Amino acid sequence: MSIIDAPQTAARPDREMVAMENFFSIAEARNDRWRELNAAAQVWASNGRGVSAARDRAVRLFAEIAPIEDYWAYPGPILMRTLKEALDALDAGVFAHLAQKVGRALLSGSYRHDPSAWDPYQEVSRLAPDVLPPDTVGVDGHRPYFEVLIVTPNDPVHWEEGRKQIERLRRQEDAFSYHVVQVGSFEDAALAVIFNGDIQAVVIYDGFTFGSRHDMPLLRDQLTRNLKIEPTSFTGEGRGLGTRLARLAKNFRPELDIYLLTDRSVETLATTEEASAIRRIFFDVEELLEIHLSIMDGISDRYRTPYFSNLVHYSQRPMGTFHALPVARGKSVFRSNWIRDMGKFYGTNIFLAESSATTGGLDSLLEPTGNIKTAQQLAARAFGAHRVYFATNGTSTSNKIVVQALCAPGDIVIVDRNCHKSHHYGFVLSGAQPLYVEAFPLTEYSMYGAVPLRTIKKALLDLKAEGKLDRVKLVDLTNCTFDGHMYNTQRLMEECLAIKPDLIFLWDEAWFGFARFSPLHRRRTAMGAAKGLEEKYRDPAYRKRYEAQTAELGHLEPDDPRLLDAHLLPDPDQVRIRVYQTNSTHKSMSAFRQGSMILIWDEDFPHVEGTFQEAFLAHTSTSPNLQLIASLDVARRQMELEGYELTMRMTGLAIDIRDRINAHRLISKYFRAATVEDMIPAEYRGSGLKDYGPPHSSWRDVLNAWDEDEFALDPTRLTLLCGEAGFDGTQFKGLLAERFDIQINKTSRNSVLVQININNTRGDAAHLIKALNELSRDIEERLRLNGDPERQAFAARVRSLTVEVPDLPNFRAFHDAFRDDPNSATNEGHMRAAFFRAYDESKCEFVKLNSREVDDRLKNGPALVSANFVIPYPPGFPIMVPGQIITEDIITFMRKLDVKEIHGYAAAYGLKVLKPELLGKTKVDLGL
Ligand SMILES: Cc1ncc(COP(=O)(O)O)c(C=O)c1O
Repeated sequence: MSIIDAPQTAARPDREMVAMENFFSIAEARNDRWRELNAAAQVWASNGRGVSAARDRAVRLFAEIAPIEDYWAYPGPILMRTLKEALDALDAGVFAHLAQKVGRALLSGSYRHDPSAWDPYQEVSRLAPDVLPPDTVGVDGHRPYFEVLIVTPNDPVHWEEGRKQIERLRRQEDAFSYHVVQVGSFEDAALAVIFNGDIQAVVIYDGFTFGSRHDMPLLRDQLTRNLKIEPTSFTGEGRGLGTRLARLAKNFRPELDIYLLTDRSVETLATTEEASAIRRIFFDVEELLEIHLSIMDGISDRYRTPYFSNLVHYSQRPMGTFHALPVARGKSVFRSNWIRDMGKFYGTNIFLAESSATTGGLDSLLEPTGNIKTAQQLAARAFGAHRVYFATNGTSTSNKIVVQALCAPGDIVIVDRNCHKSHHYGFVLSGAQPLYVEAFPLTEYSMYGAVPLRTIKKALLDLKAEGKLDRVKLVDLTNCTFDGHMYNTQRLMEECLAIKPDLIFLWDEAWFGFARFSPLHRRRTAMGAAKGLEEKYRDPAYRKRYEAQTAELGHLEPDDPRLLDAHLLPDPDQVRIRVYQTNSTHKSMSAFRQGSMILIWDEDFPHVEGTFQEAFLAHTSTSPNLQLIASLDVARRQMELEGYELTMRMTGLAIDIRDRINAHRLISKYFRAATVEDMIPAEYRGSGLKDYGPPHSSWRDVLNAWDEDEFALDPTRLTLLCGEAGFDGTQFKGLLAERFDIQINKTSRNSVLVQININNTRGDAAHLIKALNELSRDIEERLRLNGDPERQAFAARVRSLTVEVPDLPNFRAFHDAFRDDPNSATNEGHMRAAFFRAYDESKCEFVKLNSREVDDRLKNGPALVSANFVIPYPPGFPIMVPGQIITEDIITFMRKLDVKEIHGYAAAYGLKVLKPELLGKTKVDLGL
């Protein structure tokens, strides 16, 4: 059975290799096959010529690889043909030699720079692999390498000639080098774009056919289901296929440069919507050199890092500085008797690249007019936003900037109480009133999920019923959450906009910046959704649907439950798309720590640009770190050129790790990767998807779920449950660090969060799995050797971690003193007033958590009202905010908490509360 025909849900045939049926991990699976092929070939060769089991294995593996090799430039037709000839001629020696050559070149990436890797008869030169740090390799003379996909109607017998023709145009002085991949059909082109992350440009010659020349039922099926490529919808398309292909490729990988060669009227075509995905249109084949130059130009455009490059240039110029910053140019360091080690450790460049000047081409982050401005524009293009602002104090600051820019005192913000503390501080700063909405709890794991759409709609409809909708400015949510819950961003915004068409959204995508570059995750991002909504509301068919819904539901009162059940549609004439996203670029891309971006898609930005600037200036240091800004510029370059490959690889790796942990006989006794089913209650998972990867689900199932379900789980954020092993999260985190040098991020009572990033390798995965295996073996051994008392103690510990978990407390209400109308059904409050009230010590008191006074006051009053934020870490969300009434379940939760770090609470003093007798009853008492 070939890889292509393997049923999607079949159990893995060979657990040593990434399964080929994992459609989006085919590049990894392919590398595995080459490695295995090489191993089989070596065995065959050492056994001598002729037929053997090793040769049979080589034949089988070669047959698996061959059909998909058309989608990569390397090893290419010549090497593949030579391999096939050696296999057929039973020439084990030649076959083994070539299989090894190709396998090594693929593994090290040497084919990108070494012409001998392409020639069956040349020895491979010994080049340093690309994986070492550049300063350990000596002179780095490599030009970046990429592949160009050519889609051609020509007969395959002419392909070699065509390839040579275009490759002949490459010149030594080109900044980049490339090789060509040729395909002859729509289906093959789509598959090449999906499989081959090295493809950066697509040249489409109009007139090709739809169907692949390969017989590939499974891949065809995948195209139909995953990319909605229905063969029947293409019949009779003829030359129109070129623009259809361009749009499909651009949709899947927006960074690609697409060129079309056609004999249609190019002047007319250039002005149509059809051509919007195409970078340049050429008339037929008249301009081959122009095509080559355009390809180079397109890559340069993405490679360009105006700020970083200028900083490099600046660092190389002799410069006398009479500014602040003595470390600039290293002079206070290199000449020092005492701190030369600082210079040695950080190296020369970092000092040469330091300056406090904004002249000399360095531009100013506070008011960019030069290369920072351009770098931000390039980032906007890359991340699919209208505008981007760089920020150098993390997303903690980006969030405060956005909240303060958009909200004035008295505005209402619908916000997930579980969001990062920077949002809450943003409300204190701006005077906006938070209306806290609750995420669904995952009590078992002591964590929250995300806020159901129904809860948000209910809050909006209640506000509407009370005539307060005009005060609602913002819906503020975290996507994805720390633990990987991804919202259905498009659906959520759509339904909220149906209730208030000018609502603004702030999506805190601190962890999710990478998602733009993954065609799988993109559908769940803020910017992806903004684009989707804009396109949708332009469509005349949408207007008809909206009108039909208005006729049906338009007359309903806001408290009518039918509004909660219906999928509400906004008025296309009223709706404004106003979306802000903040992301910690440093958390998921190659930026230095604290590097963050604010992405903006706001049709009404000109109306808030002034307040945005104010907020930006209020929060941005007048000495922003140049290296951070430069790293944001470079991170953007990387993602625009290899973000697709990196994000696909990390997703594949994450799914593989999940599967290996949960399918392992011993490990899964004590540890488990929480599945989709564990993390998302069934009511939010209409698709019924339970877990990722075969045998649980096919990619089609996953994508359907990601398109339709209310919440989806980002597989790269892996909750590793450790309660069954008797470890609490903090203890397990410490153990992994001390014994195995494995660092993880967040913990909960009975889990740790393993985050798979663009930097993770299969070696890292193996290291983690090995550690889990060793720990599981230790537990088995301990339980076996120490008899019943140990087993009973272990069982009790496990029970306390997994069964006796405290209920998660909800936000009940602000004290009436901090509410405009104590009788209101909506619970927004004057948190800022409460916050500043605590500045007056005489108005605060402390009560001990375990005291009788607390129990008395819970029962008989007066109410306990928190004077400040109390944020236990973990789980890291505020269980108390200033002005909030402290309820019994909060006290119970606090008493059961066994974490040491609780921000805003010192056990020696007790809970800081506002004195009830000085609270007053209304906002007038507070002077509001
Ligand atoms: C959801 C969320 N938003 C914002 C932040 C703050 O980001 P930064 O560390 O870049 O300041 C974090 C940090 O963990 C976070 O989890």
